[in-house]
Amino acid sequence: MFRRYQRNQEAPTPPKIEAAPEEIAFKQRQRQERDKKKMSQSEIADVQRESKRQDKLLDVRMELHKRLLETLNLAVLDKATEQELRQEITIITREGLRDAGVVLNGSELEQINQDLFDEVTGLGPLEILLKDPSVNDILVNGPLQVFVERNGKLELTSVRFKDDRHLLRIIDKIVSAVGRRVDESHPYVDARLADGSRFNAMVPPCAVDGALVSIRKFSKEKLSIDELVEFGAFTEEMAAYLQAAVATRLNIVVSGGTGSGKTTTLNALSSFIDDSERIVTIEDTAELQLQQIHVGRMESRPPNVEGKGEVSQRILLKNALRMRPDRIIVGETRGEEVIDMLQAMNTGHDGSMTTIHANSARDAVSRLENMVAMAGIEMPLKAVRQQIASAVNLMVQVSRLQDGSRRMVSITEITGMEGEIISMQEVFKFKRERIGEGGKIHGRFVATGLRSHYAERYRQWGYDLPASIYVEQAG
Ligand SMILES: Nc1ncnc2c1ncn2[C@@H]1O[C@H](COP(=O)(O)OP(=O)(O)OP(=O)(O)O)[C@@H](O)[C@H]1O
Ligand SMILES: [Mg+2]
Repeated sequence: MFRRYQRNQEAPTPPKIEAAPEEIAFKQRQRQERDKKKMSQSEIADVQRESKRQDKLLDVRMELHKRLLETLNLAVLDKATEQELRQEITIITREGLRDAGVVLNGSELEQINQDLFDEVTGLGPLEILLKDPSVNDILVNGPLQVFVERNGKLELTSVRFKDDRHLLRIIDKIVSAVGRRVDESHPYVDARLADGSRFNAMVPPCAVDGALVSIRKFSKEKLSIDELVEFGAFTEEMAAYLQAAVATRLNIVVSGGTGSGKTTTLNALSSFIDDSERIVTIEDTAELQLQQIHVGRMESRPPNVEGKGEVSQRILLKNALRMRPDRIIVGETRGEEVIDMLQAMNTGHDGSMTTIHANSARDAVSRLENMVAMAGIEMPLKAVRQQIASAVNLMVQVSRLQDGSRRMVSITEITGMEGEIISMQEVFKFKRERIGEGGKIHGRFVATGLRSHYAERYRQWGYDLPASIYVEQAG
């Protein structure tokens, strides 16, 4: 567990980040709880039997669902009353279970009927996956191929749609519920589901082999700094460094690929912001879960079916500047709002944060340059770079490695300009060492040995980080 660094106002002695008594106690408690969970042989056998049964039940349910789709007339489905539908489902379940030779107790039967009802009336075959807490992403490639992401890895599921029409019907149901439309003339849609999950669909003719759907499930439980440290996303030293960076109001850009953990990292970093500050957040889909008291959340709005009523992130950002924020957090900078973001960072809203889609700190800078150019701002490249160099202080690179683990692979400081080039220095990085069993990537986090460019600033603000955290480790 990462123990938050205690702000030191006067005392010149650098506080320690080593294990404190309460931390040791915490770890001990965790170990004890883990031991408690260790089961006896007979208990393990019980659990195994039960999990086999659950697997079997899942198979049966899939089978029943297939039957249901084959038997039910989808066109009249919306018109059938709830009672009619339930009766129909009960009959199909009974027959299906008999054929499969499975006997269920009363509550199991009730549960399965209810599930099937939800599936038929709700989001169809997706319903099971949406309810499965171990699933992060759902990716549909046409009616016959549905992938999910579990523990950072993609796997093919046995979930299927009856045909193209069935899939389109479900998509339509989802998007019309949020007041949007998707059809041949406007074949794509980006929406947020009622539970906060992010939904994107592309339908034929642009999607060649049947509709493509991507769902990023919303998890209420955002990972905390402690959990990220525990999962090996970064080290306690890096956490201490980041705490100082956030608390001393450096402007931070979290960069990474799709699904690499950018939003999660941004959210965790925000926990270092002081409760007394007014924070305004701007997102395309409200995902951030800030713990502070004083938070104003805004979400952009795409144009409606007639192409009107759009409220872009840029407009929200401009408006945010009139709302007297201490900090502005933009969920992801992807377009013209970059200008206002850089300006805000340069003009008194320091301590602002955002994420950007890029593969390295250098790449993130070029992405920013490109976005400025795309926004139609005529400015010499050097001036753009100067703007970026003085706006952004820190680049935090996150990455999803091949083995599915997500790690903070680099913390890089922007130190200024050297001629035409933005100068940077990496302070921490993840060093890969070898690939072990099952493709698992082994490595460790190292300090590069460079002392932070902001060390003096941290010290002045009372975050006197011990020099030892910057010391390069041997090996
Ligand atoms: N270090 C981590 N360890 C385990 N799971 C993580 C870690 N970081 C993020 N996740 C999980 O990975 C998923 C994707 O994370 P997140 O939404 O933060 O990624 P993202 O880069 O913002 O994605 P996108 O590009 O779609 O915006 C989430 O379910 C999150 O809980
Ligand atoms: Mg994100």
